[in-house]
Formats: sequence, structure tokens, C-alpha cells
Amino acid sequence: MTISIDQVLREDRSFPPSSEFSSQANLQSEEDYKRLWNFAKDEPETFWAEQASKYLKWEKTWDQVLVEKENCHFEWFVGGTLNACTNCVDRHLKDRGDKTAILWEGEPGETRALTYRDLHKEICKFANVLTKLGVSERDVVTIYMPMVPELLIAMLACARIGAMHNVVFAGFSAQALQERINNSRTKVVVTADGGFRKGKSLPLKATVDESLKQADTVEKVVVLKRTNAEISMTAGRDFWWMDLMEKASEHHKAKAFDAEHPLFLLYTSGSTGKPKGILHTTGGYLLGATFSMQMIFDLKEEDIFWCTADAGWVTGHSYVTYGPLSAGATVVIYEGSPNFPDFGRFWKIVEKHKVSILYTAPTAIRAFMREGKKWPESYDLSSLRLLGTVGEPINPEAWIWYREVIGGKRCPIVDTWWQTETGGILIAPLPGISATHPGSASVPFFGVVAEVVDEKGKALPPNKGGFLVIRKPWPNMLRGIYGDGKRYREQYWSQIPGSYFTGDSARRDAEGNFWIMGRVDDVINVSGHRLSTMEIESSLVSHTAVAEAAVVGKPDPIKGEALSCFVILKDGQKKSEGLVEELKQHVALQIGALARPSELCLVDSLPKTRSGKIMRRVLRALASGEKISGDLSTLED
Ligand code: WTA
Repeated sequence: MTISIDQVLREDRSFPPSSEFSSQANLQSEEDYKRLWNFAKDEPETFWAEQASKYLKWEKTWDQVLVEKENCHFEWFVGGTLNACTNCVDRHLKDRGDKTAILWEGEPGETRALTYRDLHKEICKFANVLTKLGVSERDVVTIYMPMVPELLIAMLACARIGAMHNVVFAGFSAQALQERINNSRTKVVVTADGGFRKGKSLPLKATVDESLKQADTVEKVVVLKRTNAEISMTAGRDFWWMDLMEKASEHHKAKAFDAEHPLFLLYTSGSTGKPKGILHTTGGYLLGATFSMQMIFDLKEEDIFWCTADAGWVTGHSYVTYGPLSAGATVVIYEGSPNFPDFGRFWKIVEKHKVSILYTAPTAIRAFMREGKKWPESYDLSSLRLLGTVGEPINPEAWIWYREVIGGKRCPIVDTWWQTETGGILIAPLPGISATHPGSASVPFFGVVAEVVDEKGKALPPNKGGFLVIRKPWPNMLRGIYGDGKRYREQYWSQIPGSYFTGDSARRDAEGNFWIMGRVDDVINVSGHRLSTMEIESSLVSHTAVAEAAVVGKPDPIKGEALSCFVILKDGQKKSEGLVEELKQHVALQIGALARPSELCLVDSLPKTRSGKIMRRVLRALASGEKISGDLSTLED
């Protein structure tokens, strides 16, 4: 694979933090920041040891901070022991026992609040339930549930007894679920009769039943009652959550595990190939989640933190569950769809629960932008003080809209770059220090050695697009792909020997800010110029009529590849030939004649993975008139 991506979009807007924000931030002086940054760079092991003692509670201190093993494996805090669940819950009981840990809202509108004490009790009971069902250390429990507090309770109960959880997003099909159950050799499945989404009830238990038709390792299924849907229960295999909990003791003494004890598996689908079970372990993962929570989200005792991700994705692991709870925060959880019953739902939740930090995805922001300001403007959003985004590059226009319409121009935006594999945020602004730039994830976090390199691994000069790699190990890095050491080495460590290969392309500007351009396979070669699909999409989205765009390459005998664009218009805009021409011209004017789309279709929706990523593989096949093949289990619509 060769790489050299031309930069075609320029973005010069810059927003330094206000003095009002900086003066209250957890990290506020440039000096402190530089000192910490250099400390992490020059003495990473001492730096991480210091953070590990400060942010986590250990049963036994480690003997070695970092050990390099064979085959590109790294271990952190070796010899140390701790329990991830007691770090998230028990250690808060003394000072925060009555503090709300979870503020939950169901899609139909009911709410529940659980204090840290309530959460502790439920987790202890469920830990006892799991043990009684025969779950022991290192066994895998697959969780297939709606976004209800019991989902987090099940995850943390697994962590408490040293079992691995494997959360599968409740939108996945029976086939996708079966593949993940079998690949992980799951012993117990935790599910619900159903869950509410877009006003409908999802038949979760029926999907589990279907998936278990060919899944020999599963012994027991626990079913939470959520929708009262009619379901069938298999005697001896299936048990109601309620019945098991009723009999369970609320006392549970947790044991400490090795820092490298497996914590969870999470399957990533990506846009191509068979899903990979990404493995994370206990100490390093929890440290990364907790430390970034404090620094990047500037967490305060009184914050109400809402990360809108589902626990079926890594964001829901690190920034709904482990990061905020380990830091003792109050988290908001919402079960349903952002547009149910209308596009005001998110803003109603922000107003009602006085959310102070909101962390969401560009795809959601674009969807809201498309519906117009009237929805957010009908609610009081003055409780917000910090905004975040994650999941894909954010188009500058969407960023500005987020800042102005949602953040009232007063909230810094942290655009956070990371992956399932990285465990937590690796590139992001520090909100009290960094000037932010629409579309840039800013600078590497403490101890992260990120670089933009060519195909030989040589660092590229500023503003040259190339591969994004991480040069040095970090505590919450993945520990492998479950059961596939070969794929782990090939996928992440062989492209640029000695460096972790992210699969993303990026450029770094002269000030050192990173601009992520998308996945490496989202690069199009037009007449010898390698263009990032993201930049062309951003150009389209900057047109006043456009809400969302996806661009793919289509084989072209003359240009190599020609640009094929799929565009969703804003509400109220009329589709017309004239507009199609105008949009092509708009891109040609903004980026250059080279980038003039050869085809542009106005469409009503785009094929997306359930986490909101556009499936360009499907669009590429459509554009080239090919048959759509391969794994479509992650397709939302
Ligand atoms: C993309 C989600 C640009 C990127 C946490 C990465 C981003 C993939 C950003 C990982 C961002 C994530 N800017 N691109 N701020 N955050 N990505 O594993 O391509 O679901 O490799 O983890 O999302 O997706 P994953």
C-alpha cells in the first residue's frame, strides 16, 4: 500500500478556550501542561506509575510498569492486582454513597435514579447470581440488552467476579449475535424480553433464541423483563432476572485480579471483513479511561455527564461505564432513539437532567443540523459547559453548528480521536488549554507518541497526508484479537514494523494539530491525486442545501477513479437537476476542478453501520453497478 494524500481543504478558524472556562479547568496553566507532557514523554513508565497510584485503588502495587513480550504484546503494571468493579463502585461508597451514579430515562419517558449505594447492591446481587449459574473467572458472558441500568450492572458484575463480558449491540441480527457468541465461546447470555427503540419494541429474546439454535457453549440465559413482550422460555436454560435476583444475597466480597486479567471482549466490525474480538485487560484499560475522563472531560464533582453512545460500542464501555464511574461521576443514560417522539428529545433530556457535559457523534450532530435550530432552541441548554464528539471526522460546518446552536458559543468542543483497539481517547484537545479548530482532533494525549508517516514508516513533514501510527505502547492498548494472534500481528504491527498501525490517514499541521482524514481505505485516487473522501464530503456539507454526504470512488478509465457522491438534502430543500449541477460546481470551486464529482445522487438515506459510520463498501458497489456482497450484518437500514 502506498500513501501520499493531498490536502485540499483549508480550515483556519481557531477558538482558544475562554478565560472563564480555563480558570475553572482541571488543567489550566500552559506550564503545568507542558511539564506533564514532557514528563510523560521523557519518563513514560514513571509518569504512568504516578497516575496509576493517583487515579486507581490497587490491592497490591505492580512490580514492573511495562513489559514487552513476544509477538508485539505489551503488559502493564505487571504483578499489580485490583478489581475494576470495586474501583468503579465500592471505593465511592464512603464519600459518594448517596450520590447519583446513574440517571436513566427510558424511551417511553420513565426515569430511574440509582445512587452509588444502590448500584453496589444490585451489582453484588448479580455477581452472586452469575456465580450460582456457574460463571467463573475468564468465562465469557455475552450481554445483549437495551440501554437500561441492568446492562451496566451485568457488565460490572462480570468484572467483579473476573469473568469477561462481551456486549453485543442490541440492534445486531441473530446471525451476527451467533457469530460473536460462538467465536467467544460464551457460557451465559444476559438479555431482555425486549427494548424500546423508535417507538417500537425490539424482540431481543426471540433473536437470542434464534442465535442459540447453533451455539453449543451456552449453558444459561438470563432474561430481564423490560417490554412485557410475549416470549418463550426454555426450561432449565432460561431464567428471569427478577427471580434470580430475588433470591440472591446483597453481600459479595470481591477479589483482586492481576492487572493483566482479561476484562472484556468487544467485537469491532469495521467496514470490511469478519468481526474481530478485541481484548482489553484490567489495570491499563481502567487507568486510561479514568485519567482521560478527568483531563479531557474536565470532570467536576457536580457534573452531569451524558455520553450518548450505546454500551454495545467501545465508547459506551469507556465513557458511559468505566471512565465516569471510576471517576465517581453522575452519568445520564437514555434508552432510545434521538428523534423519538421528535428531534427535540436530546435537548429535552439535557434540560431536564441539567446535563453539563455532552459527548456525542458527528452523525447525530448532522442529523440534528438537518432538522434545523428550532428543536434545540425550544429547550434550555444553559447547563452545558463542555461538548465532545467521537467516531468519525467532523465536518467543519457541523462543528460550528454544534458550537453555536448547542454550545451557545461558550462551551469548548473536544473532538476526540480513538478506536476500540486504543481503549480510550488518544488524540484530543485539553479544554482548558488548547485552542480548538473545527475538524481537528488537536494534539496527542499525555504519553501518546502519534505520527503521520509514509508507507515506509518515515515521518512526513507538516500538512502532508499519510498513515497515522502510534510509536510507543500505551496502558489501555488492546491486548490482542481473541483467538487470532496472527491477525493481530498482521493487522496492527506489520504495516509499519515496530509501530501500531491505526488504519486511519491523517495530516499534522505546522502547529502540531492532527487532522484525521478517515480510514485508509476511504481514500480515492483521482487522476493521480489521492483525495480523502472526508474532505469532499465536508465541502458538500458546507453548501447550505446539504445535510449529509458520502463520497466513494468509482473506477474510471481515464482518471483512475471518479468521484461518486450521495447527498442528503436539508429538510425543505427540493431535489432538482439544477441543484445537482450547483453542488458539483460548489465542490469544483472549493476544492478544484480535479475534485468535480462525476456523479451526484440526491438520496433520502445512506447505508450506515449501527454505530453511524457510512458503509462506503456498499456505496462503492452501488456506484460501480456491482452486486453488493460480503457481511452486511452491521448495516442499520
Ligand atoms: C474513526 C470509536 C475522526 C477513526 C471510538 C477510527 C474518528 C474509528 C474520530 C474507530 C475522530 C473515531 N475523528 N475519526 N474524533 N474518532 N474516528 O473502533 O476512523 O468504533 O479509526 O471506535 O473511528 O472506530 P471505533
